[in-house]
Amino acid sequence: MDHLRALEDDADIERNDSGFDRIKLTHRALPELDFEQIDTRTTFLEKPLSFPLLISSMTGGPDLEIETINRNLARAAEQTGVAMAVGSQRVMFTDPAARKSFDLRSEAPNVPLIGNIGAVQLNMGLGADQCLEAIELLKADALYLHVNPLQEAVQPEGDRNFSGLAAQIRTLAKQMPVPLLLKEVGCGLSVADIDLAWAAGIRHFDIAGRGGTSWSRIEYLRRNREDDDLGLVFQDWGLRTVDALCEARAHLAAAEESHILIASGGIRNGVDMAKCIILGADMCGLAAPLLKAAKVSSEATASAIEKLHLEFRTAMFLLGCGSLAELKDNASLIRK
Ligand SMILES: Cc1cc2nc3c(=O)[nH]c(=O)nc-3n(C[C@H](O)[C@H](O)[C@H](O)COP(=O)(O)O)c2cc1C
Repeated sequence: MDHLRALEDDADIERNDSGFDRIKLTHRALPELDFEQIDTRTTFLEKPLSFPLLISSMTGGPDLEIETINRNLARAAEQTGVAMAVGSQRVMFTDPAARKSFDLRSEAPNVPLIGNIGAVQLNMGLGADQCLEAIELLKADALYLHVNPLQEAVQPEGDRNFSGLAAQIRTLAKQMPVPLLLKEVGCGLSVADIDLAWAAGIRHFDIAGRGGTSWSRIEYLRRNREDDDLGLVFQDWGLRTVDALCEARAHLAAAEESHILIASGGIRNGVDMAKCIILGADMCGLAAPLLKAAKVSSEATASAIEKLHLEFRTAMFLLGCGSLAELKDNASLIRK
């Protein structure tokens, strides 16, 4: 709950520096398209989506407010045809009352749902059995393993033993019935991280770059000691979303096996989403911008998602792209 309050109270947790402003696109005055015919649909984890949006991992826990947020997000995801990931499921192993907040499949029977466990927990006693339980409870289509070394380093109670995680992930990946996705939480995955995880059997990556929600700053606001400013010093640490995305796309271009690249971190509207797809992302994740609506109702959340959809469709129209295939990886749309 502390995290949610911090987000409400401090506008500077939003860093506004993901690099999207630097990408300028070429406007088409004669797009030669009927706006109504623009096809924004895609497929993710073998399920159809109305457009390439994923509600990024946020929450889960024993409180009624948390449970309501997840229920609203799941209902809105189903209503609008987008994917949803839950926040870290570790809490369901320490507090059984939290399980209800992850029992969401009846709210979202048709869209991809993604579970979430911190990879560092593999060094703290969680293993394949718990990951299977997390997947089973959510009836998940995939499981996120999040890697958050900065957040753990800054938290007074953080789990900081990140040694040997690639080997742990390799062992885990062999035992999972659904794909594993590796995800940062706002500092970006580097190509060296992608290489390590690829060798461990991971094929899907959410680069979750910097420039949107700063977890380091959130942890700074939650500090125990007044003179502890580690979180402030590192609030802008990491790879910008645009840089991490471009580097990951170029790096994975030669990969022969199929893989999924998700962009997230500071995506704030449908234009940012279009830029991510142009830069080679398959999907776009947004977390903080959907939280406010999720606290209100599933209808408010669905409206916020439909607004993103309209912005995304409008960007495609103005770029002269009638389908995602025309947008994806299309560098010719970027002004030099
Ligand atoms: C309230 C909140 C809670 C979050 N909790 C988690 C979490 O439990 N697990 C995780 O992998 N990421 C978590 N994240 C990180 C997001 O999934 C995302 O990677 C990051 O916030 C960047 O996206 P944004 O700039 O759109 O917020 C959380 C983000 C927010 C805003």
